[in-house]
Amino acid sequence: MTKKTALHIISSARESDSYSKGLSMAIVDKLARKHEIDTVIERDLTKGSPPFLNGNLIGAFYKDPRSVNEEERRLLEYADSVVNDVSSADILVLGTPMYNLGMSALLKAWIDQLVRFGVTYGYDENGARKGRLNGKKVYLAIASGGKLEDWPNTKEFIASHVSAVFNAYVGTTEIHTFRVEGTAMPGFQADYEKILENL
Ligand SMILES: Cc1cc2nc3c(=O)[nH]c(=O)nc-3n(C[C@H](O)[C@H](O)[C@H](O)COP(=O)(O)O)c2cc1C
Repeated sequence: MTKKTALHIISSARESDSYSKGLSMAIVDKLARKHEIDTVIERDLTKGSPPFLNGNLIGAFYKDPRSVNEEERRLLEYADSVVNDVSSADILVLGTPMYNLGMSALLKAWIDQLVRFGVTYGYDENGARKGRLNGKKVYLAIASGGKLEDWPNTKEFIASHVSAVFNAYVGTTEIHTFRVEGTAMPGFQADYEKILENL
């Protein structure tokens, strides 16, 4: 069997209390049990936050790599490590809490380090945008205190955002979303097996 690697991204700081981490770990475990992956690279973003974009880094992002100077090379180190992690993975398992209807700022900052013109996407001779890190699968694990069914569809921002970014700027079209919902409701108990029964 071909060796397959999963990159597991954790973005809730609540450690073993975190439901998004519990769900993303259950996804990793199930994929391993089904022999869909045999290697897991784990990155806990709470142990070392991705840097926020700033003017110098954005400048370095758009510079011809051949003319990047020493200082810019240093600024690009984190972004390059994210690109390496994603490039070497077949499957991405992204865990995020819902904060104020959106994804965790850590996960957003990580995505901002990943996406780069000329690296994760480019344009073909007809001017059409093409993602360059093709053929990967993304499993998105979202934990929320409330339930999506209590909101109008237009208020879904996490899966729609992650799918749009990975489709447009990375080249990943296969995205599966799983949700552990109602974590703030009285008597809540997580049943990851049930949530993942179709995985
Ligand atoms: C700052 C903050 C904002 C939150 N915003 C929302 C929200 O907009 N909608 C919601 O359903 N739950 C919200 N919650 C609840 C979390 O989504 C819930 O506690 C979830 O389990 C967090 O993920 P975790 O268990 O992986 O840490 C929020 C929690 C915090 C701390």
